[in-house]
Formats: sequence, structure tokens, C-alpha cells
Amino acid sequence: MTSMNKAGTHGEIIQDTVPEEGAKDAPIVELRNAGKSYGNIRALHGVDLQVFPGQVTCVLGDNGAGKSTLIKIISGLHQHTEGEFLVDGVPVRFSTPREALDKGIATVYQDLATVPLMPVWRNFFLGSEMTKGPWPVRRLDIDRMKKTADHELREMGIILDDLEQPIGTLSGGQRQCVAIARAVYFGARVLILDEPTAALGVKQSGVVLKYVAAARERGLGVIFITHNPHHAYMVGDHFSVLRLGTMELSASRAEVSLEELTNHMAGGTELAALKHELSQVRGVDVDELPEAKDLGAPVATASEGKS
Ligand SMILES: Nc1ncnc2c1ncn2[C@@H]1O[C@H](COP(=O)(O)OP(=O)(O)OP(=O)(O)O)[C@@H](O)[C@H]1O
Ligand SMILES: [Mg+2]
Repeated sequence: MTSMNKAGTHGEIIQDTVPEEGAKDAPIVELRNAGKSYGNIRALHGVDLQVFPGQVTCVLGDNGAGKSTLIKIISGLHQHTEGEFLVDGVPVRFSTPREALDKGIATVYQDLATVPLMPVWRNFFLGSEMTKGPWPVRRLDIDRMKKTADHELREMGIILDDLEQPIGTLSGGQRQCVAIARAVYFGARVLILDEPTAALGVKQSGVVLKYVAAARERGLGVIFITHNPHHAYMVGDHFSVLRLGTMELSASRAEVSLEELTNHMAGGTELAALKHELSQVRGVDVDELPEAKDLGAPVATASEGKS
């Protein structure tokens, strides 16, 4: 796999810290007791997280739990104010997303950075266009870009009828998939997905989850941010639940069941209190309300998704 590793922009030598082939047990990205304050607001504290190659690490949590803050630190948008952040075992502090990208950490944001009216293949290469010819007459290598985009999308199992169609005409799920394939092609080692299924229906969520699994199969470390324990459990190897800025649960797949994960997310006691409150409202039959464990309708499994 291509790696984006190169000497850091501040001149530090990272050559001898690059893990050897086969050093699968070393995390690519690690947070140790990390935290972040925005002035007086302590958005995140005491967070431990490890991201391994070929594994999906899910970060779950309710609104305001600190999920976005966590990925902003890892993707170089913000800096941590407590603890340590390491890449390949070396403490880092990124000033820009470019520095994170140079270490192979790519982020697919929900509001995807695409140009809706440009064709799919153009968006695939946006900002990193292929060119041909010597300098004074250098021009875009359109044929090669189209062929490569087509090949890379197929490699990930993404079949689009026409790469000439404006990317804005694709569904939200398809656009997410193109963004994932793009990150893989440009050599990402860690792929951060910020709630990729939040705005999607059942079927499209299944399709996106399929490509999350495909990225893992290609050996990437995936950080999958989601509200949805069902989506997380379909693809996750490790689960970290944030609550009010701290890590409430950190467990491997073997250590936690979907039911327990859902309970953690729903907050069993809070739900009981809500049920009691609703019982005071006329017309709500509390016995008809779901238990915490039943919350969140199961969705189609990834394999059921349309390919
Ligand atoms: N730039 C900022 N300045 C001040 N406070 C912030 C800032 N960004 C986030 N916060 C606060 O930090 C806490 C965590 O926010 P964060 O956006 O990380 O949560 P989240 O888990 O991503 O929530 P959501 O699911 O709604 O996206 C919140 O209380 C939020 O108000
Ligand atoms: Mg958020």
C-alpha cells in the first residue's frame, strides 16, 4: 500500500519510527489521556483511543458528547490541550489538516468537499489532478484520470453507470462511497468518517457500511463516528462510547454485545425517567413504549445492501 509518510514539515526525522512490515500490533493513531478545552469549556478529557490497521474503531455518543472534537484533534483541525496524541508511536501536534494528511490520516466530512456540477472523475482528482507533458505545455491528463477513477471505484466494488455525470446527481450514499474510494487511492492509512450514515436511509446506509468494511479489508484503520449502535455493531472491531466529554465505555467486539452497546447509548436510567415523565402526559401509554434495548430499529445487514 502506498504511504503518505515523509519527513514532517518541521524537519523532524520520522524515518526510523515507521513501523516495519508486519508490525500489525502497533496502533497507527493513539490518544493517551487526551483532552481539549475551548476556553472555559472542557469539551473532552481523559480519552484513550487506539486505531489499528485493518480494524474499525467506532466512536459513539449523543449530541455534544465530544465526537467531533475528538476527530478534529486527530484530523489536525484543533489541537489537544491535555494528554498525548501519537502517530506511529511518536507524539504529534498538528497545526493543519495538511499535516495529518501527510501522515496518511484522511477525513471524510459529512458536508463532503465536492463540486456538485463537476463530473464524478473530476471530483475524484480534485486538488490532485493528473497532468501530462513537460512544464510549459503541461495539461490535464483527462483520459488517465477517467480510467484511474473508474478502476479505483470498481476495485472498491462501486459501479457507477457514467463517470461523466455531475457528482451532485449521485445519492448521498454514493457520494460517501466515492469519497472513501478517493481517500484509499490517495494512500490514506487512517480513514475518519464523521457520521457517514446519519442522513441516509436503511438501504444506502448498508451500502456505505459495505465500503467501510472494504476499506478495512484493504488494511486501513477506520474511525467510524456514529450515533447508531446498530450501524456500529455491523462493522466495528472496537467500540468507544463518549458521554459528556469522557470515555464511558471502551470495549472490543468480544467484550460487548449489541444490546449492551445500545443500552450504553440510550442511557437506561434516563430512559426510565423519561418514561415516567411521559406517563404524566395524557394519551401516552407507557407500557407501549420500547425498552432501552429495543430502541433503534435494526437495519439491513451490509451484505443485504444494494451493490
Ligand atoms: N469551538 C467550540 N467552542 C466552544 N465549545 C465547543 C466548540 N466546539 C464544541 N464545543 C463544545 O464541546 C462539547 C462537545 O461538542 P462536539 O461537537 O464535539 O460534540 P458531538 O459529539 O460531535 O455532538 P453532535 O453529535 O451534536 O455532533 C459541546 O458541549 C460543545 O458545545
Ligand atoms: Mg459532531
